[in-house]
Amino acid sequence: MTEQQAPNVIYLADYQPPTHWIDETHLDVDIKPNATRVTARLKIRPNEARGEQTLVLDGENLDTRRVCWNDRALAPADYTIEGSQLILTGISEPGWLTTEVVIDPENNTALEGLYRSRTMYCTQCEAEGFRKITWYLDRPDVMSVFTTRIEADKTTCPVLLSNGNLVEAGEVGSGRHFAAWHDPHKKPSYLFALVAGELACVRDAYTTASGRKVAIEVFVEPKDLDKCDHAIDSLKRAMRWDETVYGREYDLDIYMIVAVDDFNMGAMENKGLNIFNTSCVLANPKTTTDVGFQRVEAVVAHEYFHNWSGNRVTCRDWFQLSLKEGFTVYRDAQFSADMNSATVKRIEDVNLLRTAQFKEDAGPLAHPVRPPSFIEISNFYTLTVYEKGAEVVRMLATLLGPEDFRRATDLYFERHDGQAVTCDDFVQAMEDVSGRDFTQFKLWYSQAGTPEVAVAAHYDENAQQYRLRFSQSCPPTPEADTKAPFHIPVRIALLGDAGQLPLQLKGHTPDDLPADNTEMMLELTEAEQEFTFTGVKEAPVPSLLRGFSAPVNLRYEYTEAELVRLLTGDTDLFNRWSASQELAVSAVKGALQTFDAEHDFAGAITPGDAWVAALAANLEHPELDPAVMAYMLQLPSVSYLHDRLPQADILALHKIREALVAALGRALAVPLSAKLKAYDISQPYAVNAEAVAQRSLSNTALLMLARAGDAEALAQAVRRYQGANNMTDQLAALKAIVAAHPEPVVQAHLNAFYAQWADEALVVNQWLTLQASRDVPQALDDVQALTEHACFSWTNPNKVRALVAGFASQNPGQFHRADGRGYHWLADVIIRLNQANPQLASRLVTPLAQWRKFGERGALMREALARINGQPLSKDVYEVVAKALA
Ligand code: TRP
Ligand code: ZN
Repeated sequence: MTEQQAPNVIYLADYQPPTHWIDETHLDVDIKPNATRVTARLKIRPNEARGEQTLVLDGENLDTRRVCWNDRALAPADYTIEGSQLILTGISEPGWLTTEVVIDPENNTALEGLYRSRTMYCTQCEAEGFRKITWYLDRPDVMSVFTTRIEADKTTCPVLLSNGNLVEAGEVGSGRHFAAWHDPHKKPSYLFALVAGELACVRDAYTTASGRKVAIEVFVEPKDLDKCDHAIDSLKRAMRWDETVYGREYDLDIYMIVAVDDFNMGAMENKGLNIFNTSCVLANPKTTTDVGFQRVEAVVAHEYFHNWSGNRVTCRDWFQLSLKEGFTVYRDAQFSADMNSATVKRIEDVNLLRTAQFKEDAGPLAHPVRPPSFIEISNFYTLTVYEKGAEVVRMLATLLGPEDFRRATDLYFERHDGQAVTCDDFVQAMEDVSGRDFTQFKLWYSQAGTPEVAVAAHYDENAQQYRLRFSQSCPPTPEADTKAPFHIPVRIALLGDAGQLPLQLKGHTPDDLPADNTEMMLELTEAEQEFTFTGVKEAPVPSLLRGFSAPVNLRYEYTEAELVRLLTGDTDLFNRWSASQELAVSAVKGALQTFDAEHDFAGAITPGDAWVAALAANLEHPELDPAVMAYMLQLPSVSYLHDRLPQADILALHKIREALVAALGRALAVPLSAKLKAYDISQPYAVNAEAVAQRSLSNTALLMLARAGDAEALAQAVRRYQGANNMTDQLAALKAIVAAHPEPVVQAHLNAFYAQWADEALVVNQWLTLQASRDVPQALDDVQALTEHACFSWTNPNKVRALVAGFASQNPGQFHRADGRGYHWLADVIIRLNQANPQLASRLVTPLAQWRKFGERGALMREALARINGQPLSKDVYEVVAKALA
């Protein structure tokens, strides 16, 4: 940021209610290439509580043609336009403000506001994109009733959509037509949407619990009509689930979804007119993996659930973003858990949290779930606000129990329906229903950083007492050096030889305890706390933080034997997986010592016999969910290993991990081969939990055995690639081939795959990522060459993410090349995208921001960051780079 001055910082502490309200918003959008005219008629009313006569509207890149107050055109002297503000004075009475502006969607590459994507015009207004469409009070606490008239060319834009219900449509001559939409629900501007273009539609319907019929319409490019069914089924399941679990019904007669190829995020919950990234809505067995199917189901549900948690009850200001995102992620996670395997969903979420969110919380971009300040709000759609925010809601649900939690959400929705509220209002409902004081709990919203909970155990055989001592602390983060203790729910059980032991807490009578008293929730509120259990007849193995009951780093010095007991015998399946990860971490730690001593580690790696035996026993267990088993076999990511073993060099960790995968594949060859053979690739494809689980385990076995050099698996990979009847198997086989076959075979298969799928953009994205994540010396050259490939485009975020983030985040061996070329290439990409698409560019900075954790290599990362910092930067990139360098 050399040429501009540092941008403004916005503080939560400065919040003031708006000076004026906008009761009605009438938009007239006249779409013409490079000159779309937007006329806005706003019914303005001063906010008595503020008593302010000056009205300041937000606007960006607007070519203003006309400003009228009560239909009287204002002379330029009667208003001022200063940068991104339109200032009117003397607005002390209600009245109508009319503005007319011209905008250029064709040249909007930031994909915010109104822009063009392939065959359509579409909008993205969250968080502050509406101001790129017209002058407005573009803040979520200003809620208005919207009526939108769209006019456009009939042949290029046969479909014209906006929020709410269609009220009028017709011809206007000269080959043009119009449609008028009215949304009866008040909403903030960030939920506004408009779509115009050439789109095909799949129609369906849903009948709500109270018997109202809702039309469902999914709009896609004609070539994608065969990929809509799964989204529609998912939507109906989500609607039913929200009725059953939260007692909430849909509130309009129509629910529309539009699929857009150029989109900065996953999807957007615009009222009655969701807009989706194609990657989060289109699904077909031929082109979509099981993971893709589950993602579509989850994102469709997420956006639907926002209709209550976000739209009906919205955020007062953007600092409260987690009010809607944390709660909605919690809701979609519970939904996915109910639709599929609950344990698998929990493992996936915790994996993401522990690898990526904990990293964010420990680095220079750490911020509380409710940030106290920001420069650019788009930078705060983070893992912390979304995933940690969901964990915070989950802890409240755990502390209240299911009945009280439901009563509390009922109270919250009823109390605040139609309002823009804060995280405090949400917690208040929890307090009012339960009678509990959550003052301390709310530190989860204001303190950043991942708490560390160290546990020490002592068994007194004579007294038959078992004592657990918990110490919690939290590392410093940019907003605070010292932290007050958190309120942490810790679910535990004690495993004895024959199963879980009954729990009797010293100082409590048996009446205090639940009927099934072999599991308990302990509440930590102090820096140091001790719990003593009486009547403990044997030295137990503690099963701690069951189901990951709080987003903390738990530290307990388990022996290998104890971890193996948990891995094979814990009734909490999540903790069995967690034990497998712990065993992997200690195996890597052991190998690291050999590495230091001999500089030759690959040959020396042997996974511990007890660990191998435990995994083998699990593999042969008839009742263990194969999908959970697949996760038990997968080693933690290099990124997670680096967090756990921070002194180690990242490339050493990567090499050890690779060697360990192969070694495990060899040690488990017999049971893994059995799993491989047990799966018949010609069986008809179905996406249900059981079939998905089978494929997951079989394909995990395939990859491990191929990496172990197993001849039968290598042959099976080629057969599976050729015989696959679905993308899950085909792509898994391709990955195994790419990982383990000689280069000519790899190239032949990569070429064949592209030839087969060149017309399917979402499949091509997978192909790009697969090449970007190859651990071969030429990977970066390949990636650079792929940016010139016919399929690649710098203006499509999915393509950029597939290739660039695929390389920077999924290829530790090559991104961290000793010569620093990986870092500098990423910096070049960020500089290139900085002005064109600031949101996309800013997200790509993440891998470099961790430079302090990388020892000598970190200096090269820092250099790359400094080079970015030497450019004139967008607010988005400026904020993250400045924080990373600070
Ligand atoms: N609210 C969207 C969600 O449910 C997030 C989102 C979509 C978004 N598009 C965006 C956020 C663009 C910022 C900018 O997750
Ligand atoms: Zn959301």
